[in-house]
Amino acid sequence: MRVTVIGTGYVGTVTGACLAYLGHRVSCVDTDESKIAKLRRGESPIYEPHLVELLELAAGNGGIDFRTELADAARESDVIFIAVGTPPRPSGEADLSYLEAAARSIGAAMDSSRFRVIVNKSTVPVGSGNLVEALVREGIDEVRREERRSIRFGVASNPEFLREGCAVADSLYPDRIVVGAADEQTLGIMRTLYQPLVSQTFAPPVCVPRPESLRAVPLVTTTLTSAEMIKYAANAFLAMKIGFANEMANICERVGAEATEVMLGIGLDSRIGARFLNPGVGWGGSCFGKDVQALLHTAREYGYESKLLAASLEVNAVQRQMVIQKLQEKLYILKGRTIGLLGLAFKPETDDLRDAPSLQIAERLLQMGARVRAYDPIAMDACRAQHPELKIRYAESALDLAQDADALVVVTEWNQFRELDLGKLAKTMATRILVDGRNIFTAERAAAAGLDYTGIGRCARRVGSPETVDGLAVPGGI
Ligand SMILES: NC(=O)c1ccc[n+]([C@@H]2O[C@H](COP(=O)([O-])OP(=O)(O)OC[C@H]3O[C@@H](n4cnc5c(N)ncnc54)[C@H](O)[C@@H]3O)[C@@H](O)[C@H]2O)c1
Repeated sequence: MRVTVIGTGYVGTVTGACLAYLGHRVSCVDTDESKIAKLRRGESPIYEPHLVELLELAAGNGGIDFRTELADAARESDVIFIAVGTPPRPSGEADLSYLEAAARSIGAAMDSSRFRVIVNKSTVPVGSGNLVEALVREGIDEVRREERRSIRFGVASNPEFLREGCAVADSLYPDRIVVGAADEQTLGIMRTLYQPLVSQTFAPPVCVPRPESLRAVPLVTTTLTSAEMIKYAANAFLAMKIGFANEMANICERVGAEATEVMLGIGLDSRIGARFLNPGVGWGGSCFGKDVQALLHTAREYGYESKLLAASLEVNAVQRQMVIQKLQEKLYILKGRTIGLLGLAFKPETDDLRDAPSLQIAERLLQMGARVRAYDPIAMDACRAQHPELKIRYAESALDLAQDADALVVVTEWNQFRELDLGKLAKTMATRILVDGRNIFTAERAAAAGLDYTGIGRCARRVGSPETVDGLAVPGGI
């Protein structure tokens, strides 16, 4: 099929690359000329593992091109994806201005030569499917009012569930594909488009092998409104699940229980599930906060006050301050102290700093008069460029970060941090304090390195093996 993807951010670039890898002919369009120039040079505008390899393979399979002008691509396409940003407004409501501009320009580009499906992949408030249709019609009216009746199109909502850091695998081997549409013709085209993914009949790229147990991917077809709601409900649940783990960890600390053991114990219950139960410094990223706020806002518009969603946001905000409290417990006064942050990105394997806990932690420490240093394997350039207001000293390595520091704080659980020689770091520090905001170390390992350790929801009175409970790995433990 001939496909256009509007927006070459985290979602659009990965979607375009995957569809072209599957054999569709894809055009990716963005108004940001620098992103398009990079993509044309074979570079990725974002840090995402295996994306450059996939783009290269995509060019050889279905074919993929990058442009700043939408009109020709949209006219030649059977399916047009909207994957532009929908950032939050100060009120919590989603800012739909990018989506509106994209939908209008699709309308302005359309003619009557074929039936087209316009697919909304951006996360948009419930009811936006109808908004897209109205805006496309407005765009058509601006340019071809007399032809409006003969220009045929359908609108689908196809929410994206990829996780940054493993976005390529998530797109090629998703847990499910959700498509909401109001008519059979639109659904039929979407079924054909996703057939190779659903049946998993494509040859997997060597760099991202197919999980052995995966035979087929469920395609869930719904109404437009349900598809939009599925995305919000999924993110609200995941944010709440992490918030729950953090709440339990805070209680564990007080009663002397070990949160990683408790989470293992409850996660093995198939009704609960083990993933997303790691206590830490709170969730971040471009989606959870924005989407939970947007859902709260939508519910309020319908006269419903969701106490659970509001509490989820509140619990997370408090959790981000936990690290500061722990530093105060250990150092008493933070003014003049040197604190080293291990990690800046909101999660490992990405350079994304949107709503990253590290930013709030750094800001608070600076306000309190501490000197803040940071080391992140990938996100330091982005932090320098996007947050010049944060007077952070960027270190060249974890060892450089530790030099004369009063405390180290693990903020992002990069794998390379798990392998650090803690003894070597400890020897260079002024005060040997380690606040493990992601529970990637154990108290025993830190103590052996001469570090005063504190994690999230961990108790020092632990007995038995620190790594396993009857042979099962404790999540987060090493
Ligand atoms: N990032 C994620 O992990 C993720 C996961 C699932 C869903 N989503 C949702 O997907 C959407 C996109 O997210 P993202 O992280 O890829 O955003 P992003 O900010 O990385 O990328 C959006 C891109 O759209 C471009 N753009 C804006 N208006 C345009 C227009 N009129 N024409 C062409 N290009 C235009 C921007 O220049 C930018 O490159 C959001 O609604 C987000 O909530 C994101």
